[in-house]
Amino acid sequence: MDELRARGWEKIRWVRDHMPVLALLEERYAPEKPLAGKRVAMAIHLEAKTARLALALKALGAEVAVTSSNPLSAKDDVAQALSEEMAVYARGEATEEEYREFLLRVLSLRPHLVLDDGGDLTALLHGAAWDLGRETLGVCEETTTGVIRLRQLEREGRLRFPAVAVNDAQMKSLFDNRHGTGQSVWDAIMRATNLLVAGKTVLVVGYGWCGKGIAQRARGLGAEVIVAEVDPVRAAEALLEGFRVLPVREALPLADFVVTATGCISAVTYADLLCAKDGCLLANAGHFDVEIEVKELYARGQVRRVREHVEEILLPNGKRVYLLAKGRLVNLVAGDGHPAEIMDLSFSLQLLSLLWLAQEGRALRPQVYPVPREVDLEVARLFLQSRGVRLDELTPAQRAYLGLA
Ligand SMILES: NC(=O)c1ccc[n+]([C@@H]2O[C@H](COP(=O)([O-])OP(=O)(O)OC[C@H]3O[C@@H](n4cnc5c(N)ncnc54)[C@H](O)[C@@H]3O)[C@@H](O)[C@H]2O)c1
Repeated sequence: MDELRARGWEKIRWVRDHMPVLALLEERYAPEKPLAGKRVAMAIHLEAKTARLALALKALGAEVAVTSSNPLSAKDDVAQALSEEMAVYARGEATEEEYREFLLRVLSLRPHLVLDDGGDLTALLHGAAWDLGRETLGVCEETTTGVIRLRQLEREGRLRFPAVAVNDAQMKSLFDNRHGTGQSVWDAIMRATNLLVAGKTVLVVGYGWCGKGIAQRARGLGAEVIVAEVDPVRAAEALLEGFRVLPVREALPLADFVVTATGCISAVTYADLLCAKDGCLLANAGHFDVEIEVKELYARGQVRRVREHVEEILLPNGKRVYLLAKGRLVNLVAGDGHPAEIMDLSFSLQLLSLLWLAQEGRALRPQVYPVPREVDLEVARLFLQSRGVRLDELTPAQRAYLGLA
């Protein structure tokens, strides 16, 4: 156990040294303790960068409880280490039941502020755990899927507190979803399979922020990339980036690797997979394990574990497909998630958005808010400062010419 904890601290220290924006913010706010008296519930993939954010919130005065936002994404060493500092409810190979139990335990803190990733805490606070949200000032949501769920609650008139769509900030989606997912998905697939990407055909399903990053990095690794989309504008973007665009069913017989990043159910169906190339590798980067029809695959195929995070599934038509990370977010289950420098930006947005909610929450209506523009710009400025990058500034004459105040 001590060894596990020591390894967890080693990982947390490493990322701390590569998350300079968060360090600057901690240095700025820790002396004032602006979160003193506030209880913060977090459900977000529990790995070293998340631990670093939780520690920063504690340094700002908050009482924090943490769990992971996916049954398989918690890192046990990091969870052990962090539990020396705060309440941690997580296990690397949690069952669905344990996962739900952990979410409820985190909510038993009766949080003032919620940091959610995918919307599971928020959903509980609008259902089974309603009572635990009586003092909640608001929620900050990390990912596309969670923002979709928040907007649905808002449309139905059921959202009970203000919510900040951190995912939609420019300093988040432009970098985390694109560059973070782009790099970490391939890192995880390569670690899990130890196979070559160059010279192979990769099918990327969904050409949103994540899909663009995954497709670009696959090309950089020497693969031929096919994109499948349902949105004509996104498909046109992919085409003019030089990717081949095909429907899933037509692309599958050509693909050696398939990666989904749609945020949608059944983007690759069981029936589609019957047309896949023999030996095709399947990975999902979307938030939930619903993008590839995993349940159907498990129910109708013969499943055999062949490596850590890789299962061979023999289909009734005699073809084999290899499913990575049980169809859950491959970069968090079979890898360490996004690079530290990327999560530095996303988590700095989270910290500033939580401070904003702590200050303004009571005055805000229950609706979905964008990250305040000033927060987005501040994270961009601090990031450039940490890299030693300087910018030109508009002169008064240029500002007047552009019609700016
Ligand atoms: N793995 C990670 O670390 C990570 C990081 C950020 C976001 N995410 C998750 O990845 C998913 C995608 O996020 P995003 O920011 O790219 O979203 P996005 O909305 O920018 O892009 C999704 C794209 O998928 C397309 N799409 C939807 N349904 C489709 C279908 N059935 N077939 C083909 N294309 C389809 C949409 O038209 C859209 O272009 C979400 O679930 C998000 O929560 C994961």
